[in-house]
Amino acid sequence: MRVDTTEVSRVLRDWMAHQRWFAGKSRASTIEARLLATLADQPYLVQIWLADVSYAEGIEHYQVPLVMRAEAVEQLSHAFVGSVPDADGGPPIELYDALHDKEVTGLWLQAMVDESTVDGVSFVRAVDPEEIPVSQSSLALTSEQSNTSLVFGDDAILKVFRRLEAGLNPDIEIHAALGKLGGRHVAKLMGHVSAELDGQTWSLAMLQEFMTTASDGWQLATSSVRDLMAEADLHAEEAGGDFAAEAHRLGVSTAEVHADLATAFGATVLDKADLADRAAAMNARLTAALIEVPELAEVAAGLRAAYSEFADLPGQVLAQRVHGDLHLGQVLRTAHRWVILDFEGEPAKTISDRQAHDSPIRDVAGMLRSFDYAARHQLIDMGSTPQSEFRAAEWAERNRTAFCAGYAEGGGQDPQEAAALLRAFEADKAVYESVYEARNRPNWLPIPLASLHRLAGTS
Ligand SMILES: Nc1ncnc2c1ncn2[C@@H]1O[C@H](COP(=O)(O)OP(=O)(O)O)[C@@H](O)[C@H]1O
Ligand SMILES: [Mg+2]
Repeated sequence: MRVDTTEVSRVLRDWMAHQRWFAGKSRASTIEARLLATLADQPYLVQIWLADVSYAEGIEHYQVPLVMRAEAVEQLSHAFVGSVPDADGGPPIELYDALHDKEVTGLWLQAMVDESTVDGVSFVRAVDPEEIPVSQSSLALTSEQSNTSLVFGDDAILKVFRRLEAGLNPDIEIHAALGKLGGRHVAKLMGHVSAELDGQTWSLAMLQEFMTTASDGWQLATSSVRDLMAEADLHAEEAGGDFAAEAHRLGVSTAEVHADLATAFGATVLDKADLADRAAAMNARLTAALIEVPELAEVAAGLRAAYSEFADLPGQVLAQRVHGDLHLGQVLRTAHRWVILDFEGEPAKTISDRQAHDSPIRDVAGMLRSFDYAARHQLIDMGSTPQSEFRAAEWAERNRTAFCAGYAEGGGQDPQEAAALLRAFEADKAVYESVYEARNRPNWLPIPLASLHRLAGTS
């Protein structure tokens, strides 16, 4: 059995348009497939393909592992990619997303155990071979967003990067570095996969210890808010599911991770010129956002004042490697501790931008924005009353304060003392959110707008 590249390109064009991880849905593009590596030819042909997607503005590369079957498989219908002619003249070949085919996903782990290199794709192992759960079957997480993650039994999770870029993925880089320092708040790196391509190394996947029985921060926080709303006349500290002690611990853990990141990758300072550049970029983002979200006009002057204060900060601002996309959905509470996940940074940025040093207070701001969303989003469906608004605000404030206190206690810069930094970063993030909400979920727009009024001093 043999497939023609143009046929694979043809089916990928239709199929990718429906995949969550494909960022090019609303733009005109052409898709060219190319074969990267053949992992097996028996009993099924399993191959890693790349889809090169060209737009007027440039090119993106996506990873598409495929399994080729001689017959249609009912149980894999959700992972069906397309049917292509056999270039050897046999019956049509059925293509499926290999990551959803339990019969073949074990190949990734076996290759890691063997530390093999196949067609320039290297499988690197970071733990003893016995620790790799080769005999466990895999389950793809349904929450998939920008990548596809497979859980093997209760032991390991394989994150397969969909959108690829030359260079070591920061998620692998940071997990390796913090693991070496004995960091308690990250999952153990078990291995990774990379390809030699066009003279550079490209990260394809990462295998990690799977945190069993962990709950994610967003679920814990939002159920705390739900408990509070169900108890009509209690304050946040009196309700059953008070989150403040967890928020405090999460602050301590975040500070410890930041300290490890500074140890592993060094720290620098942002000088006057850096601050001015960043303030200019924030102002430019606000200017662009005003076109799409006219409601921002009421807060624009207050936000620009916050950005000026940021640009004029006296002294030097410490900078280092940061998480870059920290929010409650990126943290897990295990029985013992908080674990911070997903160090890829902001997906829209290039790898070198994501490796650039930034103030760790930007991560603090990201988490505080998330507390605000956790507090308020339920009011949108429930319909808010002045009382529920008040209580949501009280919940958010209580947990923000707890997180910041924990962060300072854990050795981070006290966010209270970095108020101007924090205000500018929160505002910049909330401006971004307002554009996102205006485009995708207009009924959520009041969440960032309310915060922007608070930050601008107009509420
Ligand atoms: N080590 C882990 N243990 C348990 N669950 C994990 C682990 N890593 C990731 N997850 C789960 O998978 C989800 C997606 O992982 P993440 O690294 O954030 O990828 P993405 O880039 O797709 O957001 C997380 O929100 C979490 O629920
Ligand atoms: Mg994530």
